[in-house]
Amino acid sequence: MGSLETRGRTLNYAARVYDLAMGLGTLGMDAAVRAMTVKLAHPSPDDVVLDVGCATGNVTIALAKRLHGGGRAVGVDAAPAMIQRANQKARFLPVEFRTELAEALPFADETFDLAVNNMFLHHLPLDLKRRAIGEMFRVLRRGGRVLTVDIHRPTSWWAKRVGYLGAAILRQDEIRENLRGVVLSLHVEAGFDNVHVLRRMHGMIAFIGAQRP
Ligand SMILES: C[S@@+](CC[C@H](N)C(=O)[O-])C[C@H]1O[C@@H](n2cnc3c(N)ncnc32)[C@H](O)[C@@H]1O
Repeated sequence: MGSLETRGRTLNYAARVYDLAMGLGTLGMDAAVRAMTVKLAHPSPDDVVLDVGCATGNVTIALAKRLHGGGRAVGVDAAPAMIQRANQKARFLPVEFRTELAEALPFADETFDLAVNNMFLHHLPLDLKRRAIGEMFRVLRRGGRVLTVDIHRPTSWWAKRVGYLGAAILRQDEIRENLRGVVLSLHVEAGFDNVHVLRRMHGMIAFIGAQRP
């Protein structure tokens, strides 16, 4: 089955080799970023957690391992092959994976305590970034938190060169938007409070935290 219809860059074709290719392609930096995401997300054991653009579920599973009691995690991705792999990895954990679109989440308002998205928003064009962030806002309960981890305004000359070169090679305007800093402003626009950069890595990846008022 192919990916759900979206203008986001889905990776159904890459699911089989995704974990290995990302590890090799980023020299292990992907795992370091994911580990920091899980650390900064620090869910409470009984939180209901959403991971948007979960790919093969690495972050979702790491979060689910921290949950018990009423806590559970849900990972969504538009690529069914990614969801299939995620399901294979997640046995005996309070986690569910679903093939869904970030811009049209099929969850009721105020369902989740925490919404995480790790290296996902640079796969969406600007209008879908806006919709996906709006959807995370909608499905979070009042006082719920979002943690967005993605390419953001570079903090060094070197990171800026690498970022814009990468966007040019991949022909990905979605990355240029991130480099200009739109992700943080879109959280403010969506209505989140206390939108701030919690941490940076590698000069161009920001861990952005915010709260639904
Ligand atoms: C770089 S991967 C995300 C990495 C993952 N969060 C992790 O931590 O390993 C981006 C993912 O976004 C998914 N995607 C792209 N457009 C989407 C959309 N509109 N809705 C949901 N997922 C989408 C792709 O299929 C892909 O799996």
